[in-house]
Amino acid sequence: MALSLTVNGQHYSLDVELDTPLLWVLRDELKLKGTKFGCGAGLCGACTVHVNGQPTRSCSTPVEYLDGAEITTIEGLSENGELHPLQKAWVAEGVPQCGYCQSGQIMTAAHLLANTPSPSRDEIVTAMSGNLCRCGTYSRIVAAVESVVD
Ligand code: FES
Repeated sequence: MALSLTVNGQHYSLDVELDTPLLWVLRDELKLKGTKFGCGAGLCGACTVHVNGQPTRSCSTPVEYLDGAEITTIEGLSENGELHPLQKAWVAEGVPQCGYCQSGQIMTAAHLLANTPSPSRDEIVTAMSGNLCRCGTYSRIVAAVESVVD
């Protein structure tokens, strides 16, 4: 299938199988390794990217539905060489432990703040509840998101 995608503002024309999950197009075809494979079943959130502005589990999203889509990955959050405020907060709060799930965590948090600039603690916890962290960094994740809230 000839697939047209815009990823982090760059246009790509790719020849891939219809049932290829977006995750593998990002990692294997485009070499964007920041998006991680966790459960592979849409359950953990490690593979979260934005598709047309919506947080999406790329491991369980076949590209056949994505022709013409705009994708943002963790690599696309920074602008002009400057980290996204959430990325700076992650560093300042020392959020990551093993770090594996954190790109998905940040992408989910970025969607929350893009749509709810001043979320309450409950809204943050609810929004982040679908992203699992085996190291249990949840309290630092909430603190990092709260630190960038207006
Ligand atoms: Fe996609 Fe777990 S790897 S949700």
